[in-house]
Amino acid sequence: MVNEERLPRHVAVVMDGNGRWAKKNGKNKLFGHEAGLKAMKAIVKRSSDLGIQYLTVYAFSTENWKRSKAEVSGIFHLLLKYLNLELDELHENNIVFKVIGDYKALPKNVVRALDHSFEKTKNNTGLQFIVAFNYGSRAEIVMAAQRLAREAENGTIEADAITESDFCERLYTSDIPDPDLVIRTSGEERLSNFLLWQAAYSEFVFTDVLWPDFSPEEYDRCLEIYGSRERRFGGR
Ligand code: FPP
Repeated sequence: MVNEERLPRHVAVVMDGNGRWAKKNGKNKLFGHEAGLKAMKAIVKRSSDLGIQYLTVYAFSTENWKRSKAEVSGIFHLLLKYLNLELDELHENNIVFKVIGDYKALPKNVVRALDHSFEKTKNNTGLQFIVAFNYGSRAEIVMAAQRLAREAENGTIEADAITESDFCERLYTSDIPDPDLVIRTSGEERLSNFLLWQAAYSEFVFTDVLWPDFSPEEYDRCLEIYGSRERRFGGR
């Protein structure tokens, strides 16, 4: 049973294993991503039902552009399909939809659909569902450094006085607390350029389950593991 007293405020998920799942089932990769999307919907619902405040999922990294054209455009289409079919339901469930990443560099129709989704859900007060899309943590850190450098150059900030919180305020996640729990599926145990700064004190739970098979029950198991951990944040 999930201990509702010891739930993470923010869960971040590396949804890994769609390709292997597809192969195992004799299908192409996009079929795996489609099944991954279904699994994601169930985890959004479970998070919202449990009263988790923030859920961030890694859907498309800056490195994913290296994949085949068909796979990249297939993932963009899945995102569009998801927004077309699910935005009303997200809104009815009081969910705020956000993206972290350089989304403005995506095709125009994707940018329009995303902007519309942010606008529609921005005043909701339930779960904040954050999709990392065209996201890379190192690029995000460089962007924050460039912003601060520009401000130091034009005299609106003093270089020696820059603090960690000044830095945080210039990341995509400026209005999002650090993740308490990072889950990665498919047996891989890496961060892969996801929330490098933000995950400094996160708990990690790794599961061998491939993302399309990641069920609300498996999610609950990860939350139980988190609930049983003692967090010290570098103290004793
Ligand atoms: C990793 O699996 C998964 C991705 C790169 C894409 C994740 C996308 C989804 C879950 C669906 C789309 C979601 C949205 C919001 C549009 P992999 O292909 O790297 O798996 P493998 O390591 O087994 O090959």
